[in-house]
Amino acid sequence: MKQTQQYISDNRDKFLNELIELLKIPSISADPNYSDDVNRMAKELAAKVEEAGADLVEICPTEGYPIVYAEKTIDENLPTVLVYGHYDVQPADPIELWDSPAFEPVVKKTELHPEGAIFARGACDDKGQMYMHVKAFEAMMQANELPCNVKFMLEGEEEVGSENLGIFVKNNKEKLAADVILVSDTGMLANDVPSITTGLRGLSYVEVEVKGPNRDLHSGLYGGCVANPINILADMIASLHDENNHISIPGFYDKVIELSDEERTAMAKAPFSEEAYCKSIGIDSVYGEAGYSTMERGSIRPTLDVNGIWGGYIGEGAKTVIPSKAYAKISMRLVPDQDPDEITKLFMDHFVQIAPKGVTVKVTPHHGGEPAVTPIDSIAYEAASKAYGQTFGKEAIPVRSGGSIPIVAMFEKELGVKTILMGFGLDSDAIHSPNEHYGLFNYYKGIETIPYFYRYFTDLSKN
Ligand code: BES
Ligand code: MN
Ligand code: MN
Repeated sequence: MKQTQQYISDNRDKFLNELIELLKIPSISADPNYSDDVNRMAKELAAKVEEAGADLVEICPTEGYPIVYAEKTIDENLPTVLVYGHYDVQPADPIELWDSPAFEPVVKKTELHPEGAIFARGACDDKGQMYMHVKAFEAMMQANELPCNVKFMLEGEEEVGSENLGIFVKNNKEKLAADVILVSDTGMLANDVPSITTGLRGLSYVEVEVKGPNRDLHSGLYGGCVANPINILADMIASLHDENNHISIPGFYDKVIELSDEERTAMAKAPFSEEAYCKSIGIDSVYGEAGYSTMERGSIRPTLDVNGIWGGYIGEGAKTVIPSKAYAKISMRLVPDQDPDEITKLFMDHFVQIAPKGVTVKVTPHHGGEPAVTPIDSIAYEAASKAYGQTFGKEAIPVRSGGSIPIVAMFEKELGVKTILMGFGLDSDAIHSPNEHYGLFNYYKGIETIPYFYRYFTDLSKN
């Protein structure tokens, strides 16, 4: 991999400038106003993968945004690595909280990124991390050191639930045949603590409506006599956790796999400072389920959170009114072996059942996703571990993540292929938030580490 690494160090500026160009495209999948930009992003990306050296590149149409698919086959007898990433991004809102515009990337130094970080929506999630793979591939091609076959599957709907990717995967099992799926769309503990993500949480997402009177009412004339949907909704939501912060939906924990004491002890060895954690997000104390550490609460335990709540009068000044309706969006992060459809059903039944007389409740499910765990005794894990060893000079540690990438469980189900999650982001990179950024250290380290993964994975596959 010597020539590959040389090529990478000779082309650092080019790699950065290309990423900056891609970050200027506002490929926001959630907002139909940006559909031209999302499609343009797919085209630009396909051109980049072709330039990098793929010999088949396709922009595969779907009912939604296209999937950029590419291949480089060097020898049928060698293993195949399938790279997955996403080129869509979250909306930039609230835009007034960005220090510089979300789609005008700038490089700035920060405390955690003394070499500089690139600030833009998608810098880390996932354009920056995805593009590391395109550049690592280019470097291996240019150096004539690509050790195995490669396939790319880059989608434009991850941030809105990957519905069409699910269909694409089901319909293209042969095309997508691979020995491992390689994804950089997660994080690591710190820049001096390389880590491999070994689990992701699943997701169940619902929207609830509580309806009271058939119109907004004068709160003097009717106040005290009718159920106020906002009061009721607040009560109902509050009742979903008990005093220990356990979730009180009957059956919610039935399928949760508890970790063994050994596993919990191993987890507790990962470096974590509660003080730094609190400081970084401006809180004076952590909060959560009794009996579990902050690390555990955020990864191996399921959660229930209100993501948004609205109803009644929220304009200027005061309006004395009892609203007719109140709403909330609620997400539940799930862990193995919780099933998103089952959990959604448990939530719906429970939420309807706890509603008092005087209101009616409607629950609408949104997209969900299954949790996933990835093995640490696989060839892929060993290859990743050795790759990090090469570039960071220390061993990577396994870490379960709290985020969700629902297609990981689906890849395993549909393709029978396990995923290796080599994430290079930091929790502090503000993904989905204003001022999202990605360290240049992380970007280049990713590009340097990926080729070693290919090398070791190919070598280990031969035995
Ligand atoms: N890349 C993230 C997920 C992630 C981030 C996992 C950091 C682990 C560490 C992904 O783009 C994402 O945002 N997923 C969504 C779920 C999806 C169904 C919208 C999420 O986790 O909220
Ligand atoms: Mn992502
Ligand atoms: Mn995301």
